Amino acid sequence: MSLTASVWMLFFVGLWGRTKPLDNGLARTPTMGWLHWERFMCNTNCDADPDNCISERLYMMMADVMAAEGWREAGYQYVCIDDCWMSKSRDAGGRLQADPRRFPGGIKKLADYVHSKGLKLGIYADVGTSTCAGYPGSLAHYDTDAQTFAEWEVDLLKFDGCSMDTTLLEEGYVNMSKALNRTGRPILYSCEWPLYEWPSQKPNYNTIAETCNQWRNFADAYDSWSSVKSILDWTATHQDIIVPSAGPGGWNDPDMLVIGNFGLSRDQQESQMALWAIMAAPLLMSNDLRSICRHSKELLQNRHIIAISQDELGKQGYRTAKVDHFEVWERPLSQGWLAIAVLNALEIGGPRRFSLKAAPGWKTCTPLCNITQILPQYEEVGVQIGHQVSVNPSGTALLVIMPISMKKHDQRFLKMQWSEKQTLL
Ligand SMILES: *[C@@H]1O[C@H](CO)[C@@H](O)[C@H](O)[C@H]1NC(C)=O
Ligand SMILES: *[C@@H]1O[C@H](CO)[C@@H](O)[C@H](O)[C@H]1NC(C)=O
Ligand SMILES: *[C@@H]1O[C@H](CO)[C@@H](O)[C@H](O)[C@H]1NC(C)=O
Repeated sequence: MSLTASVWMLFFVGLWGRTKPLDNGLARTPTMGWLHWERFMCNTNCDADPDNCISERLYMMMADVMAAEGWREAGYQYVCIDDCWMSKSRDAGGRLQADPRRFPGGIKKLADYVHSKGLKLGIYADVGTSTCAGYPGSLAHYDTDAQTFAEWEVDLLKFDGCSMDTTLLEEGYVNMSKALNRTGRPILYSCEWPLYEWPSQKPNYNTIAETCNQWRNFADAYDSWSSVKSILDWTATHQDIIVPSAGPGGWNDPDMLVIGNFGLSRDQQESQMALWAIMAAPLLMSNDLRSICRHSKELLQNRHIIAISQDELGKQGYRTAKVDHFEVWERPLSQGWLAIAVLNALEIGGPRRFSLKAAPGWKTCTPLCNITQILPQYEEVGVQIGHQVSVNPSGTALLVIMPISMKKHDQRFLKMQWSEKQTLL
């Protein structure tokens, strides 16, 4: 195939390759919010640990902090409940009910509270006979449960895939999607269907994107660099299969941000934030916003990184190169801009330098790009013929490059800049 033909093919695939995403008007950009699982897990012991157990207080406190400390303004909108909120049995009418001791006000009242803070409430259920922690599953109750969540005015459903015959996963997730639609309330639908399907077969990402607003593909995020790195490796290895299905309305979900907890160094936290933005991933923090340190808070609220995450073009990035133990990840942005993340994957030694000219996307700079460096420090580097970044082990440099179409009158000025800078490159 000629080069021109393959470029045209890419163009057409890019334009029409994606099937119609789920049409509920939600998740036009990747979901942002907070989700209890990684940090608070299934802690139901409210007598011993009243501030950290899964109870209405926990979500109310998180909502208070999100409204008071800039999280909502930064874009974090959803306060999400994960497993272990339920009572062990359904009520007399067959409906799910919250544990009455830990949620004395009930979910509807909690939703009202969260809404009064200008935020949205997410809830959790399971496609099979029981949830992963052994609470009632939704199989054979999809319409009832969807209706219950709509009556409670819930805004997001995380639908897990435990205790389900894998051959029925697709049917179950599709049926619940329809049940949610029939309620008439737009409820963001977060699926785990490919994660549970991969061990037995290759998931059908067209159907998934028509059914869900986001979908988990791989194992849960843990509070460790090895976990974050394994998620990145899985994503890069499967990117040709999963990336094309992502876009406004539906996103690949590499799981929670664990920034602000115990397991990631400062550089590793920056790597997770940068790469989740490049992957157009939902930004669902699982941490304790009541006691998060200043640095993690600034990183999670960094408006330049969030702008990449939420870019309106809605294209997920790819890992485009592995060079000398650096990984280059690139995400096309609106206006023809490109976000580039350079991860130093060598977990030994000190900071190493990387020349942006070795990033495949640099070829869009003809011959110049205006460079803004976002991590490790914000710097408007300006119009350059090249740039070097210094990256710490397991850290990431994040940049936005903006190709410059040169106008005649600029050229003399730029030439002067080149001769000054060339010695540095
Ligand atoms: C239900 O689906 C229809 C058709 O795809 C769509 O137009 C409508 O907005 C959906 N409603 C909800 C509440 O998701
Ligand atoms: C999905 O819905 C169809 C049509 O109502 C039904 O026949 C099927 O049993 C349902 N499957 C599951 C897993 O709920
Ligand atoms: C380069 O980008 C910066 C923002 O990072 C902007 O202020 C500046 O005007 C841009 N310069 C050119 C020549 O486009």
